[in-house]
Amino acid sequence: MTRTYIAPNFQGTLFRNPPMSETAKLILDGKEYELPVVVGSENEKAIDITKLRDITGYVTLDSGYKNTGATKSNITFLDGETGILWYRGYPIEQIAEYATFLEVAYLLIYGELPTEKELNYFTSSIRNHTLVHEDMKRFYEAYPTGAHPMGVLSSMIASMSTFYPESLNPNRPFKDIELTMHRLMAKMPTLAAQAHKVSIGHPIMYPKNSYSYTENFLHMMFALPTFDYEVDPVVDDALNKLLILHADHEQNCSTSTVRMVGSSQSNLYSSISAGIAALWGPLHGGANQAVIEMLERIKADGGDVAKWVAKAKDKNDSFRLMGFGHRVYKNFDPRAKIIKKACDDVLNKLGIHDPVLDIAKQLEEVALKDEYFVERKLYPNVDFYSGIIYRAIGIPTEMFTVMFALGRLPGWIAQWKEMIEQGEPIGRPRQIYTGANLRDYVPLAKRG
Ligand code: ACO
Repeated sequence: MTRTYIAPNFQGTLFRNPPMSETAKLILDGKEYELPVVVGSENEKAIDITKLRDITGYVTLDSGYKNTGATKSNITFLDGETGILWYRGYPIEQIAEYATFLEVAYLLIYGELPTEKELNYFTSSIRNHTLVHEDMKRFYEAYPTGAHPMGVLSSMIASMSTFYPESLNPNRPFKDIELTMHRLMAKMPTLAAQAHKVSIGHPIMYPKNSYSYTENFLHMMFALPTFDYEVDPVVDDALNKLLILHADHEQNCSTSTVRMVGSSQSNLYSSISAGIAALWGPLHGGANQAVIEMLERIKADGGDVAKWVAKAKDKNDSFRLMGFGHRVYKNFDPRAKIIKKACDDVLNKLGIHDPVLDIAKQLEEVALKDEYFVERKLYPNVDFYSGIIYRAIGIPTEMFTVMFALGRLPGWIAQWKEMIEQGEPIGRPRQIYTGANLRDYVPLAKRG
């Protein structure tokens, strides 16, 4: 059967012929075109417009790619209407409850949960690569005091390609590419913690390979040559969950960036470095930092939560409640549900009384009941709670987005690998030009 779409601009109506079909009909300027319909394994549907420009001369216009399926992917399924998130078919609730971050990383990158032997291989390979080349330490000396760690991390990851030139060709045998993936997983926590230590003038702590992935990171962040940092299991568990919850989220801004950069056959290090840059913005990964900065601003202003909620609702005011709303989750963010519990556990266990966190609680309560937020389905997202946890465990605000990047790394790797394996073409969108029509150059003297 055929599902028929008539372009509204030309015929004024949009209708469907039920039931479902394998093609869509498009009528443009009175001419009919048949386009394939692609159906995903969870019945997601797309009209395949790959040949649209060739057969009709038209392109589609979709600012922000809100309706554009950029790829077919086997990695993550999410349904924003019902609040579903699966990695390779496994629901996030089960994964966050039972798995370790490295198990999840393996699942995302290799496609299946590891056997014990496979997990041991993966874990020990990552353990063996946690040290970074000593020459890289000299780079830190060149950054100014107060350099943002996301800028530092992005450049350090791009710089890794210069230390491993064999990684420059993404089409080498899988064993070579796999080593690059393991190096990234192993060295990114080391580089992230080093960036922090340098920024506060502390000596760099080397990795301790007897620790787990998360313990090791906390050790490199908080221990000193004169002080052994003891990892609290509640903190370790919360960190493990946070990394898992951030591990992949299908074709978001940073992941699409990784795939786009990689589509030019650029190497994995530079693709991940670009992903880190995309994640940095406050409308994406930078939101967790923006949440705490917003809470501090509210506190400094006297803590009047109602006033700031009113500002967020005022269309003449550019202020938005950071940590609220999501591009795809329009009912609730399943990750926020899980992390809210971990957040409560951490705050209770550490017995933290922080006026900024009190403001967070009040804001959450007010906004969840407020008609403006309810109507627009604006709920606290994962970044609202992650920012609170990071603050409670002593991670400095500027490192929050770095934490997100550590979690997202296996997802970016898996998406890059899938893009290469699927032989995807270089990403190159079109545009609708709205500038001046052809005109003659006017010499400077005659321009008035
Ligand atoms: N505070 C106040 N109003 C908001 C907020 C907010 N945080 N978010 C959306 N709105 C309003 C908009 O003004 C708009 O109102 P209108 O319909 O009256 O014009 C409506 O809700 C829809 O907003 P859009 O911007 O169209 O929604 P979109 O899906 O494009 O944006 C986004 C989603 C960018 C996440 C947005 O909600 C936002 O800016 N949130 C704050 C930043 C944030 O927390 N980002 C983290 C996202 S999660 C992540 O990246 C992991």
